[in-house]
Amino acid sequence: MVILAPSVLGADFKHLEREIQTVCNAGAEYIHLDVMDGTFVPSISFGMPLISSIRNCTDKVFDVHMMVKEPYRYIKEIRQCGADLITIHAEACGHLDSTIKVIRKNGAKVGVAINPSTPISTIDLILPQVDMVLIMTVNPGFGGQERISYTLDKVRRLRSRCEERGLSMDIQVDGGVTLDNVREFLEAGANVIVSGSAVFRGDAKQNTTKFLEIFKEYER
Ligand code: DX5
Ligand code: ZN
Repeated sequence: MVILAPSVLGADFKHLEREIQTVCNAGAEYIHLDVMDGTFVPSISFGMPLISSIRNCTDKVFDVHMMVKEPYRYIKEIRQCGADLITIHAEACGHLDSTIKVIRKNGAKVGVAINPSTPISTIDLILPQVDMVLIMTVNPGFGGQERISYTLDKVRRLRSRCEERGLSMDIQVDGGVTLDNVREFLEAGANVIVSGSAVFRGDAKQNTTKFLEIFKEYER
């Protein structure tokens, strides 16, 4: 199944409830929540209070992307705020394996993200332990950037490596994904598509519907 994960970073925070309900009613399955700590990435976004206060806007999956150094410190709290899927960066964890175990122990699904310049071989050993790999298609930290084209090949290689090993995990892409370039990511093997600006800029309902129309061509 191909899933759309609108990133609320691209939404109008003044009307967050309305923005979330618009994309969920239009068919988005995940809500992507970017937590930034000002250390792992230059910017600071939002954290637990915001996530728990919007939790009752929808029952769709809360997909929390932790751009945070040593995220093991916050897993329990993030889970209590309503995260269903918690994605941590391989580059941000001194002990990636044990951080994955902390997420599992807290009952959430596990995602592991890698930055554009991080090779996929970095996460080879932990692939059987994760539900999703996030291939960053921009340097994390800000919405509205242009995607870095060499990341496409990482998606392609990761998908074939997973197939060789009989692993059927989700592959998520995040950053600079638009209605014009999303087909390239789907063709490469991504099946969870994050988009902030291309969903929320303009008519969010119409943009969501357009993404989902394209997805139908790629149902696996
Ligand atoms: C970037 C974040 C993204 C961001 C995507 O560091 O992880 O989720 O909100 O926004 P767009 O789709 O505008 O690139
Ligand atoms: Zn993100």
